[in-house]
Amino acid sequence: MDEMRVRAAEPGDAGAVLAFWQEAAEGVSVSDDLDGVRLLIRRDPEALLLAERGGEVVGTVIAGFDGWRCHLYRLAVAPWARRQGVATALLAAAERRFAELGGRRVDAMVLDSNGLGRRAWSARGYGRQTDWARWVKPLKR
Ligand SMILES: CC(C)(COP(=O)(O)OP(=O)(O)OC[C@H]1O[C@@H](n2cnc3c(N)ncnc32)[C@H](O)[C@@H]1OP(=O)(O)O)[C@@H](O)C(=O)NCCC(=O)NCCS
Repeated sequence: MDEMRVRAAEPGDAGAVLAFWQEAAEGVSVSDDLDGVRLLIRRDPEALLLAERGGEVVGTVIAGFDGWRCHLYRLAVAPWARRQGVATALLAAAERRFAELGGRRVDAMVLDSNGLGRRAWSARGYGRQTDWARWVKPLKR
Protein backbone atom coordinates (compact mmCIF):
# COMPACT_ATOMS: atom_id res chain seq x y z
CA MET A 1 0.00 0.00 0.00
CA ASP A 2 1.30 3.50 -0.87
CA GLU A 3 2.45 5.62 2.04
CA MET A 4 0.08 8.36 3.18
CA ARG A 5 1.11 11.98 3.42
CA VAL A 6 -0.73 15.01 4.72
CA ARG A 7 -0.26 18.36 2.98
CA ALA A 8 -1.95 21.74 2.77
CA ALA A 9 -4.26 22.16 -0.22
CA GLU A 10 -3.40 24.63 -2.99
CA PRO A 11 -5.86 26.71 -5.05
CA GLY A 12 -5.62 24.20 -7.92
CA ASP A 13 -6.95 21.44 -5.61
CA ALA A 14 -10.33 23.13 -5.07
CA GLY A 15 -12.25 21.24 -7.77
CA ALA A 16 -10.91 17.85 -6.73
CA VAL A 17 -11.69 18.59 -3.09
CA LEU A 18 -15.31 19.49 -3.89
CA ALA A 19 -15.71 16.29 -5.91
CA PHE A 20 -14.17 14.33 -3.03
CA TRP A 21 -16.60 15.84 -0.51
CA GLN A 22 -19.57 14.81 -2.65
CA GLU A 23 -18.44 11.23 -2.30
CA ALA A 24 -16.98 11.21 1.20
CA ALA A 25 -18.26 14.05 3.39
CA GLU A 26 -21.30 14.25 5.65
CA GLY A 27 -23.92 16.58 4.12
CA VAL A 28 -23.30 19.80 2.21
CA SER A 29 -21.79 22.96 3.68
CA VAL A 30 -22.81 26.52 2.86
CA SER A 31 -19.26 27.10 1.54
CA ASP A 32 -19.08 24.03 -0.74
CA ASP A 33 -18.28 25.74 -4.02
CA LEU A 34 -15.15 26.85 -5.87
CA ASP A 35 -15.32 30.40 -4.52
CA GLY A 36 -15.74 29.08 -0.98
CA VAL A 37 -12.81 26.68 -1.10
CA ARG A 38 -10.52 29.15 -2.87
CA LEU A 39 -11.39 31.87 -0.37
CA LEU A 40 -10.45 29.53 2.47
CA ILE A 41 -7.08 28.72 0.87
CA ARG A 42 -6.38 32.39 0.15
CA ARG A 43 -7.39 33.46 3.68
CA ASP A 44 -5.33 30.73 5.39
CA PRO A 45 -3.16 28.66 3.04
CA GLU A 46 -2.39 26.09 5.77
CA ALA A 47 -5.95 25.41 6.89
CA LEU A 48 -7.26 22.84 4.41
CA LEU A 49 -5.33 19.61 4.99
CA LEU A 50 -5.40 16.78 2.48
CA ALA A 51 -4.37 13.19 3.12
CA GLU A 52 -3.01 11.61 -0.04
CA ARG A 53 -2.02 8.13 -0.99
CA GLY A 54 -0.33 7.51 -4.34
CA GLY A 55 -1.21 11.07 -5.36
CA GLU A 56 -4.94 10.52 -4.70
CA VAL A 57 -6.91 12.41 -2.06
CA VAL A 58 -8.15 9.94 0.58
CA GLY A 59 -9.13 12.40 3.31
CA THR A 60 -9.62 16.04 4.27
CA VAL A 61 -10.01 18.26 7.28
CA ILE A 62 -10.22 22.03 7.64
CA ALA A 63 -8.13 23.18 10.61
CA GLY A 64 -9.00 26.82 11.16
CA PHE A 65 -7.51 29.08 13.84
CA ASP A 66 -8.99 32.56 14.22
CA GLY A 67 -6.54 33.73 16.88
CA TRP A 68 -8.93 32.79 19.66
CA ARG A 69 -10.22 29.24 19.10
CA CYS A 70 -9.41 26.31 16.85
CA HIS A 71 -12.18 24.92 14.66
CA LEU A 72 -12.33 21.71 12.66
CA TYR A 73 -14.60 21.20 9.67
CA ARG A 74 -15.03 18.79 6.78
CA LEU A 75 -13.37 15.75 8.32
CA ALA A 76 -13.97 13.17 5.59
CA VAL A 77 -12.29 9.98 4.44
CA ALA A 78 -12.91 8.11 1.17
CA PRO A 79 -15.38 5.29 1.85
CA TRP A 80 -12.89 2.69 0.62
CA ALA A 81 -10.06 4.04 2.82
CA ARG A 82 -11.89 4.13 6.14
CA ARG A 83 -10.79 2.45 9.34
CA GLN A 84 -7.13 2.66 8.28
CA GLY A 85 -6.13 5.62 10.43
CA VAL A 86 -6.61 8.39 7.84
CA ALA A 87 -8.82 10.54 10.07
CA THR A 88 -6.47 9.89 12.98
CA ALA A 89 -3.52 11.17 10.90
CA LEU A 90 -5.45 14.23 9.73
CA LEU A 91 -6.53 15.15 13.25
CA ALA A 92 -3.00 14.66 14.55
CA ALA A 93 -1.72 17.06 11.85
CA ALA A 94 -4.49 19.57 12.64
CA GLU A 95 -3.76 19.44 16.36
CA ARG A 96 -0.03 19.90 15.70
CA ARG A 97 -0.85 22.99 13.69
CA PHE A 98 -3.05 24.38 16.46
CA ALA A 99 -0.37 23.72 19.08
CA GLU A 100 2.23 25.54 16.98
CA LEU A 101 -0.13 28.52 16.62
CA GLY A 102 -0.79 28.66 20.37
CA GLY A 103 -4.37 27.44 20.24
CA ARG A 104 -5.96 26.43 23.55
CA ARG A 105 -9.10 24.54 22.61
CA VAL A 106 -10.48 22.94 19.51
CA ASP A 107 -14.06 22.25 18.53
CA ALA A 108 -15.94 20.46 15.79
CA MET A 109 -19.55 20.51 14.64
CA VAL A 110 -20.96 16.99 14.72
CA LEU A 111 -24.52 16.10 13.74
CA ASP A 112 -26.26 14.31 16.59
CA SER A 113 -27.42 11.70 14.08
CA ASN A 114 -23.90 10.99 12.77
CA GLY A 115 -23.00 7.93 14.83
CA LEU A 116 -19.92 7.19 12.75
CA GLY A 117 -18.61 10.72 13.20
CA ARG A 118 -19.34 10.65 16.91
CA ARG A 119 -17.34 7.46 17.34
CA ALA A 120 -14.38 8.90 15.43
CA TRP A 121 -14.37 12.16 17.45
CA SER A 122 -14.71 10.29 20.74
CA ALA A 123 -11.80 8.04 19.81
CA ARG A 124 -9.63 11.13 19.43
CA GLY A 125 -10.63 12.56 22.83
CA TYR A 126 -13.39 14.99 21.79
CA GLY A 127 -16.49 15.18 23.96
CA ARG A 128 -19.98 16.54 23.34
CA GLN A 129 -20.75 19.82 25.08
CA THR A 130 -24.30 19.57 26.36
CA ASP A 131 -24.96 23.06 27.67
CA TRP A 132 -24.25 25.04 24.47
CA ALA A 133 -25.98 25.26 21.12
CA ARG A 134 -24.80 26.85 17.87
CA TRP A 135 -26.62 30.07 16.92
CA VAL A 136 -26.39 30.92 13.24
CA LYS A 137 -27.34 33.65 10.79
CA PRO A 138 -26.59 33.40 7.06
CA LEU A 139 -24.84 36.51 5.71
CA LYS A 140 -26.01 38.28 2.55
CA ARG A 141 -23.55 37.94 -0.34
C1 LIG B 1 -15.73 9.61 10.48
C2 LIG B 1 -14.57 9.32 9.51
C3 LIG B 1 -13.92 10.65 9.13
C4 LIG B 1 -13.54 8.41 10.22
O1 LIG B 1 -12.43 8.26 9.34
P1 LIG B 1 -11.44 6.98 9.43
O2 LIG B 1 -10.22 7.31 8.64
O3 LIG B 1 -12.19 5.77 9.05
O4 LIG B 1 -11.10 6.94 11.00
P2 LIG B 1 -9.84 6.18 11.65
O5 LIG B 1 -9.51 4.97 10.83
O6 LIG B 1 -8.76 7.17 11.89
O7 LIG B 1 -10.51 5.70 13.00
C5 LIG B 1 -10.23 6.30 14.24
C6 LIG B 1 -11.09 5.68 15.30
O8 LIG B 1 -12.44 6.14 15.17
C7 LIG B 1 -13.35 5.09 15.56
N1 LIG B 1 -14.11 4.66 14.38
C8 LIG B 1 -13.94 5.09 13.11
N2 LIG B 1 -14.82 4.47 12.28
C9 LIG B 1 -15.55 3.65 13.07
C10 LIG B 1 -16.61 2.73 12.82
N3 LIG B 1 -17.08 2.53 11.58
N4 LIG B 1 -17.13 2.05 13.86
C11 LIG B 1 -16.67 2.22 15.11
N5 LIG B 1 -15.64 3.06 15.43
C12 LIG B 1 -15.10 3.76 14.41
C13 LIG B 1 -12.49 3.94 16.04
O9 LIG B 1 -12.26 4.10 17.43
C14 LIG B 1 -11.21 4.18 15.25
O10 LIG B 1 -10.07 3.61 15.84
P3 LIG B 1 -9.74 2.05 15.57
O11 LIG B 1 -9.89 1.82 14.09
O12 LIG B 1 -8.32 1.90 16.06
O13 LIG B 1 -10.74 1.28 16.37
C15 LIG B 1 -15.08 8.58 8.24
O14 LIG B 1 -15.86 7.47 8.63
C16 LIG B 1 -15.93 9.46 7.32
O15 LIG B 1 -15.42 10.14 6.43
N6 LIG B 1 -17.26 9.45 7.55
C17 LIG B 1 -18.17 10.27 6.70
C18 LIG B 1 -17.97 11.74 6.96
C19 LIG B 1 -18.20 12.11 8.41
O16 LIG B 1 -19.17 11.67 9.02
N7 LIG B 1 -17.29 12.94 8.94
C20 LIG B 1 -17.40 13.45 10.30
C21 LIG B 1 -18.20 14.70 10.28
S1 LIG B 1 -18.49 15.31 11.92
